[in-house]
Amino acid sequence: MAIRVTKAVIPAAGLGTRFLPATKAMPKEMLPVVDKPAIQYVVEEAVAAGIVDVLMITGRNKATLENHFDRVGELEAALERKGDIDRLKKVTYSSDLAEVHYLRQGDPLGLGHAVLQAKMHVGVQPFAVLLGDDIIDERDHLLQRMLNVQAERNATVIALQEVDSSHAHLYGIATVSPTNESDVVRVNGLVEKPEPGTEPSNLAVIGRYVLQPQVFEVLASTKPGQGGEIQLTDALQVLSADETIAGGVYGVVFKGRRYDTGDRVDYIKAIVELAVEREDIGPELRPWLKRFAEGLD
Ligand code: G1P
Repeated sequence: MAIRVTKAVIPAAGLGTRFLPATKAMPKEMLPVVDKPAIQYVVEEAVAAGIVDVLMITGRNKATLENHFDRVGELEAALERKGDIDRLKKVTYSSDLAEVHYLRQGDPLGLGHAVLQAKMHVGVQPFAVLLGDDIIDERDHLLQRMLNVQAERNATVIALQEVDSSHAHLYGIATVSPTNESDVVRVNGLVEKPEPGTEPSNLAVIGRYVLQPQVFEVLASTKPGQGGEIQLTDALQVLSADETIAGGVYGVVFKGRRYDTGDRVDYIKAIVELAVEREDIGPELRPWLKRFAEGLD
């Protein structure tokens, strides 16, 4: 019988250099997307898919992250005194979401190294990994679909999305073959951030993974790769090449809405896209945005 996936790992130790100086004293995961820090969308997505235990792999600036998912007695008491129940709910919501644990990465040796730190916490169960730069629209149930595929096939499952070939060098890129399910592919090979023009396909790895515990052994012997970092993609390449280790690697091809908060322009686009859809502020923002865009040349 398939083991239900209850744990997620969220690497959050990046330096966020693209957002300096905003990220000088604050992790990039705390940058607001409309009125919630980016990381809260990711934790909410995990919880919606049935995850109850989240391990964040953090770096030196972790204090604000911890505070965000903790109670804040003074503020809660003040809002309660005022009878401001709506805001009180917003404050307590993030601390009640899930059981959140923190582990420091130590040396920043890459995404593969960050995931390897989760070994003791995860144990020998399959687990999810969610990267904070990608926000998946809550109406599109990508992680849930990936967990179902993992349970059916007892294999590693990654999320793939078609990207323009001009962007392929920013991602892990997969070589795939079809399966009997239209949104699921067998991953035959992976390459991390190929040189422009050398990408084997335009199917990019987006930041959602459901991993088998065997990945830890592979990561432990994965040598630094692209950028001199220990790459999760390289460990997954090993698993995709040998089905006998942990059932091989499958990809769920995602056609839904993904918002990239990883660089400055994409971050602004993500905020605008999410804000116009919101019931509370969308109606006011939309007509303004139309007028504003008409004035641009
Ligand atoms: C990481 C992974 C890459 C993946 C990407 C998705 O890269 O290494 O394979 O395609 O996330 O966002 P990063 O964006 O952290 O450089």
